[in-house]
Amino acid sequence: MCGIVGYVGRQSAAPILFEGLQHLEYRGYDSAGIAVLDRDGALAVLKREGKLRDLEASLTEMPRGSAGIGHTRWATHGPPSERNAHPHTSAAGEVIVVQNGIVENYRELRAELEPGLAASGRSWQSDTDTEVIPELIARALADGLSFRDALAQAVGRLRGANAVAAVYRREPGRIYAARQGSAGGIIVGFGEDEMFLASDLPALLRHTTSVYHLEDGDIAEIDADGVLVSRGGAPSFAPQPTQVNLDPVAVARGPYRHFMLKEIHEQPRALSDTIRGRARLSPPRALPADLTFSELALRNIERVLVIGMGTSLHAAMIGRWWIEQIAGIPADFDNASEFRFRAPLLGPSTLVVSVTQSGETIDTLGAISHVRERWDAPQLTITNVEGSEATRQADASIVLRCGPEIGVASTKTFVGSLAALYLLACRLGHAQGRLSDAELSGRLEDLLTAPSLVERGLQLSDRCASVMRQFTAASNFLVLGRGIEYPLAMEAALKCKEISYVHAEGYAAGEMKHGPIALLDDGFPVIALAPRGPLFDKMMSAIQQVRARAAPVIAVGDAGDAELDELVDHFIGVPPTSALLTPFSLSPVIQLLAYHIALARGLDIDQPRNLAKTVTVE
Ligand code: G6P
Repeated sequence: MCGIVGYVGRQSAAPILFEGLQHLEYRGYDSAGIAVLDRDGALAVLKREGKLRDLEASLTEMPRGSAGIGHTRWATHGPPSERNAHPHTSAAGEVIVVQNGIVENYRELRAELEPGLAASGRSWQSDTDTEVIPELIARALADGLSFRDALAQAVGRLRGANAVAAVYRREPGRIYAARQGSAGGIIVGFGEDEMFLASDLPALLRHTTSVYHLEDGDIAEIDADGVLVSRGGAPSFAPQPTQVNLDPVAVARGPYRHFMLKEIHEQPRALSDTIRGRARLSPPRALPADLTFSELALRNIERVLVIGMGTSLHAAMIGRWWIEQIAGIPADFDNASEFRFRAPLLGPSTLVVSVTQSGETIDTLGAISHVRERWDAPQLTITNVEGSEATRQADASIVLRCGPEIGVASTKTFVGSLAALYLLACRLGHAQGRLSDAELSGRLEDLLTAPSLVERGLQLSDRCASVMRQFTAASNFLVLGRGIEYPLAMEAALKCKEISYVHAEGYAAGEMKHGPIALLDDGFPVIALAPRGPLFDKMMSAIQQVRARAAPVIAVGDAGDAELDELVDHFIGVPPTSALLTPFSLSPVIQLLAYHIALARGLDIDQPRNLAKTVTVE
């Protein structure tokens, strides 16, 4: 949600913190700030409303100081403003804090701290929940605790999931960090005579690949020579760093105008990487290594529930379709944020599959723990981030290997999740004897064509651009699909909303006549996803109904489909494929359609307003 960075070493901290924040801007970008301490404890704080570039202009005013923390914000409590931007400082100015997460009991804590503040003639300086943290730490320091213990005590009083970084003016060569619950993670980076802190790896890669991920409950005390971690009441220890295998080039935009475009174009390779080693043809086997459940456990699965949020929920919907069609097992999907507050009937024979590219989405993590606490159901998570909270909580994981996804709108992790779900359906069908060896082999061979389907879809970028340029001024789109294309219609509509700010609804085409049709006229464009398949004739009827209301139709169908081409105003032909594989042929086109409207409208595609890549708050 928000991004945190920290630095302590021999260099000037401010430019390093700023550069780190640039890599975390995808997590939040409505305001930002940096605090730096010099050797004598002199403090400089710089905060600005708006994007990081608004902070950059004043960066040269920052004094040289070799320890500091920084933050890029996605507002939760209080609007984006300089006053609400982090870092936040205790009333006496000694304790400086940045936070990612939500202090759910901040009202109670404010009420408790207020009399003390008032007695010293001070008042709250922001509308944030964060500001109670430096104040709680200051109270604990006044009670005689060391800074580390004061931080531990303060964090222990917070309800919710939080990652915190702090500096203390009386300890200028040190930075501190704490993690409570899963708040998008916090990582310590090891350098030579310098140490780093960040919410995510891209902010560290230019400096180090040697890292330690703080665990829930960890308090880290960091100076230029290393880190000491305390956990619970146990003695502090110096954690062993692990090496990450990520190339800084993977997090650079390269020649592409936007990360989203880069990631759309990376999809064939990302898909191949997801599938690699997981679709063995002889003897045929899907996911030979990732599913750590026993064959007996797989055979006993009677139902599958696939959950997720946003784009991952749409992948879950398609996964449900494949599990029913390929594995022949009853399957459902659910929105994780709704599921966790229902009382569904699950049991040990229900496999719960969570889809979450970040592995940190709070709604999905909440659903995973809801399942763990109430039912003894096996859980599998599908995520792009190895070591993420979802992988720690689930019983087994499929890690996508798509490489870092920086654009806020998910693209390559969507197709990666689709491949993982398809493989899962194949494995379950085979394990339960519903797919013979030969059938499994055929299904896997089909999947191996997916990267080239996507590749050919990417060649339609210019065509998508020229069609969408004609609808730059449209304020609404209806996107229709049926069967496996229905979740894709929802995904297309979500992409339009996310990056183009166009109101768009994804509908099952059969449902259109029950309401949405009332909206249609010659100014209401309709996108119809209509490849040849079992429901093609029904799609054609829906398109006829749209045409009869004079609404312009953009159809995405099989290349060479003259009948469809003739019927609609604009036709985009994707490579024909089998009915189960259309999500791969259509995905690049729906992404490119949304991308090109946003581009024509001159919008900030990688950082759309109000959104964040990793949503660690409810
Ligand atoms: C945010 C992102 C979406 C993403 C959703 C779920 O809303 O902006 O792109 O689909 O979270 O994220 P997850 O990491 O769980 O897939």
